[in-house]
Amino acid sequence: VKKVLVDVDCGVDDAQAIMMALAAPDVQILGITCVHGNTCVENVCKNVLRVLKVCGRLEIPVFKGVSKPLLGNVLDAGHFHGADGLGDAPDPDAPGLELVQEEGAVSAIIRIVSEHPGEVSLVATAPLTNLAVAVKLDPTLPQKLKGLYIMGGNTDSRGNTTICGEFNFAADPEAAYIVLNDYLCPTYIASWEFTCHNKLTWEFCDYWLAQDTHKAQFMKRIFQHSIDSCYSERIEKELVAGNGFISCDSYAMAAAIDDKFIIESDHKAVTVELAGVHSRAMMIVDHLEMLPKSHKAYILKKVDLERFKELMMNALK
Ligand code: BDR
Repeated sequence: VKKVLVDVDCGVDDAQAIMMALAAPDVQILGITCVHGNTCVENVCKNVLRVLKVCGRLEIPVFKGVSKPLLGNVLDAGHFHGADGLGDAPDPDAPGLELVQEEGAVSAIIRIVSEHPGEVSLVATAPLTNLAVAVKLDPTLPQKLKGLYIMGGNTDSRGNTTICGEFNFAADPEAAYIVLNDYLCPTYIASWEFTCHNKLTWEFCDYWLAQDTHKAQFMKRIFQHSIDSCYSERIEKELVAGNGFISCDSYAMAAAIDDKFIIESDHKAVTVELAGVHSRAMMIVDHLEMLPKSHKAYILKKVDLERFKELMMNALK
């Protein structure tokens, strides 16, 4: 059984990633930690509880984490995910925040990983604030992880939030810097460009959502806002060549839960630009091996998209 801890800013694609892991028979989710990002951390907690309820898995503990980046102002992605983070399609009988654990997310990350040394895959699909604070409190945390799977960063200078910054890194560049430099454990990165180059077709999306299940109906409702507001315009026309549907966070999850998903990756040292006038939050990939660091991350390059589609399908079964 693969033990997974998930750190999210539950948004629509975070929900898709969580549902993917919940559906996998050999995966045990030890907890879901929440952080600011796509929406405020309170909404993130509510959204995770909604997802768990739809999947009948409210026994999984949910922890509230940090509400702001280490420096600077909070960013959100309401234009894409809806103001509530899940497409502004509320459930009348959504679970209440009293179900959130009393223990905070940072403490939970440190405790859960310590309870299962060498066994936990930490999947981070959000700004990396919780993880950055956790490693500063417990510098031994990374050596106890089996692996760290991040959706975030970019491999060229094209951002999706700032000129050069991908959302999860732009929403807390200092945290991204700390994580990429302090987590000296096997680290896998699903970058923005990687997700764009591995998008699924709209035909697949229709087929996926047409499954006759309660989970598919839920997904259809929460996903509509993103489909309407964004795919048709900014992302597809300006930033990404070609048409298609991207579930960014699900790629990081698939990498963590399916050993055969990654076919090829670049093994390079990475860091984050913190000081650039235009390039703050851009991920730096050290192709020339000039950074004074030996730790390298696996930057996903080629994956098995058939397996990915299968995992996506199962998520809504
Ligand atoms: C990332 O930003 C968020 O809006 C998505 O949930 C994903 O984690 C993509 O840049």
